[in-house]
Amino acid sequence: MRVLVTTGPTREYIDPVRFLSNDASGRLGVEIARAAQDRGHPTCLVHGPINLTMFNPMIPPGVDMVAVVSTAEMSRAIQERFAGIDVLFMVAAVADYRPVVYAPQKLKRRADGAEQVFTFTRTEDILKGLGARKRHQFLVGFNLETEHAEEEARRKRDEKNLDLIVVNGPENLGSLIATVKVLDRTGVVAVWEERTKAEIAVRLVELVQARWRARLESEQ
Ligand code: CTP
Repeated sequence: MRVLVTTGPTREYIDPVRFLSNDASGRLGVEIARAAQDRGHPTCLVHGPINLTMFNPMIPPGVDMVAVVSTAEMSRAIQERFAGIDVLFMVAAVADYRPVVYAPQKLKRRADGAEQVFTFTRTEDILKGLGARKRHQFLVGFNLETEHAEEEARRKRDEKNLDLIVVNGPENLGSLIATVKVLDRTGVVAVWEERTKAEIAVRLVELVQARWRARLESEQ
């Protein structure tokens, strides 16, 4: 099973020193890449800006590490590899908006003290695009919500044509511990409460591995 994991945030720069991004440490994605590689699956980790000083010692040798910054770069890194993978864990907290205009020089504060207004436009929905054109690939999406989590997860699962979606709460951000719910196309298939992210990653990789094997057997 060839695995691609994305993790961390993406950044959309307004000027050389300021950006719009999401709060995401990247830990769960790092743990998933580790769990996949440790189980013998060739694994690539496409990551936005994350704390590599902290995470590098956790990443087993052999994981193909690809660093990106913007949503467009993350998209390109995935598209280049998509035909050659079997499973995508799309853990990354992708920035949904980018500034319409990028200022090549650092913006100065307005001298008149007035409000500064920026205009943003949508970035590409990477996972939705992949869901629309997937063939054999097994797609796992991640969903972070502050309200109506399960309902929203079902909507995103269907809209993005996902095989599984993992529902995360905001309390999991930056934490070592998390509570998640996993939904497949029929509904909730697992609830893991107050587990370490390392444990959640192992369970998730094993769940996907079992489903991937079952799919291969049913095709024979
Ligand atoms: N995702 C993506 N490209 C985007 C936004 C999200 O590929 N531009 C992926 C995420 O990596 C995640 C899934 O889609 O696996 C759900 O992301 P989420 O931010 O929860 O959903 P959105 O589709 O952005 O919806 P909203 O922000 O309206 O809740």
